Amino acid sequence: MTMIYLDHAATTPIAKEVMATMTAWAENKDAFGNPSSVHHFGRRARRDLDDARRSIAQTIQAEEKEIIFTSGGTEANNLAVIGTALANKDKGNHIITSKQEHHAVLRAAEYLEKKGFEVTYLPVNNEGIVRIEDVKAALTNRTILVSLMAVNNETGIVQPVQEIGSMLKNHQAFFHTDAVQAFGLLKLNVLQLGVDLLTVSAHKINGPKGMGFLYAASHVPISPIQFGGEQERKKRAGTENTMGVLGLRKAVEIVMDEREYRYQKYSSYKKEFVRVLTEKKVRFQINGTINNTVPSIINISFPNTDVQALLTNFDIEGVAASSGSACTAGAIEPSHVLTAMYGANDERAINSIRFSFGLMNSKENISAAANIVASVVNRLTNQKG
Ligand SMILES: Cc1ncc(COP(=O)(O)O)c(C=O)c1O
Repeated sequence: MTMIYLDHAATTPIAKEVMATMTAWAENKDAFGNPSSVHHFGRRARRDLDDARRSIAQTIQAEEKEIIFTSGGTEANNLAVIGTALANKDKGNHIITSKQEHHAVLRAAEYLEKKGFEVTYLPVNNEGIVRIEDVKAALTNRTILVSLMAVNNETGIVQPVQEIGSMLKNHQAFFHTDAVQAFGLLKLNVLQLGVDLLTVSAHKINGPKGMGFLYAASHVPISPIQFGGEQERKKRAGTENTMGVLGLRKAVEIVMDEREYRYQKYSSYKKEFVRVLTEKKVRFQINGTINNTVPSIINISFPNTDVQALLTNFDIEGVAASSGSACTAGAIEPSHVLTAMYGANDERAINSIRFSFGLMNSKENISAAANIVASVVNRLTNQKG
C-alpha cells in the first residue's frame, strides 16, 4: 500500500535540491571550517553564512544583520518572546499573546509569568481570528511585547497581522509574529507588516529539521537565552550550523520561486478534497472560513466521531493526517486551538482532523485520499447509526 501524506504542516520531506546543496557542502574539504576562525577555512565558512543570511533577509525585506539563525521555529519563538521580554523589562512587564498560539510561544509566555511578567492571553472569535479591538483594549503603558501568529498551524486561518502591525506603530510594544506556517505561501514583507520580530522554520518548507531563523529588527533589544560564544551578534551562542543554513537558504530560494504556483496548486487540492467529501455525502464541517485559510491546510470536523478512531483508521487505509487533540492516557485531550474558537465543551475540539498539502501530493493522490477519508468516516458514522 502506498501511503498518502497529508501532514505537511507537521513536517515536510527534504527537497532533493536542498539535499544536494547540503551534500556538496559536506563533501567540500574547504567548507567545513568554524565561521569564527580567522584562517582560510573559517573565512570561507563565514562567507557561506553571510551570503545565506543576505539572500534570506532579502526575501522578507530585512537587512542581513537582522537574521538570527536558530535551531528551528521553537527556538526562534522562545528567543523572540523570552529574549525580548528580558531585554526590555525596564519599560514594563506586560506581554500580549493569544490562546491559539503554538506551544513554543505559550510555554515561553508561561515561563515569563513565573518570572514576574504579566501575560494577557487573548481569545479568538469563532472564525479563529484574534480581534484587533481586543489587542487594542489589552495594551497598557507597561506592554513591551505582542506575539501573535501569522497563520494558525492547526486550522490554517490567516490572522490580521498587518492591521495589528499598523495599530501598534505608535506603541512601545514590539510585535512578534510566528510565521512558520505562512512563510513560502503568503507574501511577507516585514516593513509592510509592521512586525519587529518574525519566526520561520526550515523543515516546514522542505528544508532540514533543526534549522530556522528569527528576524529581529535592528532596533529591538534582545537578551540571549543560551550562553557561550558571541555568535549571531551575541544573540545566539553556539557554532553556527553552516550545512543547515545552506539547506535553509536553498529551501527558501525554491519556495520563493514557486510561491504563487504552489498557492494555486494547493488551492486546487483543497477544492478537490472538499468536492469528494461532498460528493460522497460525508457529514463534515470546515473549521474556520475556507477563504481565510492558507491553501495548504484544511481542518475538518466529522460529527459523531473522535480523532483517535479517525486517525487510526486513516492510517490503516493509507492516509497520514493529524489533529491538534492529543490522546493521553486513553483520554482525548481537546485541541487548545479549537477550544479557543468554540469553547471547552464543543465536540469539534475532539473530532477534527488537519489535512495539510505539499510536495508529496498530486491531484490524483488528493482524490484518492479524499475517497479513503470519505469511506472511513461514512463507515464509522454508520456503525454508530
Ligand atoms: C506555527 C508553528 N510555530 C512553531 C513551530 C515549531 O517549529 P520547529 O518544529 O521548527 O521547532 C511549528 C511547528 O510545529 C509551528 O507550526
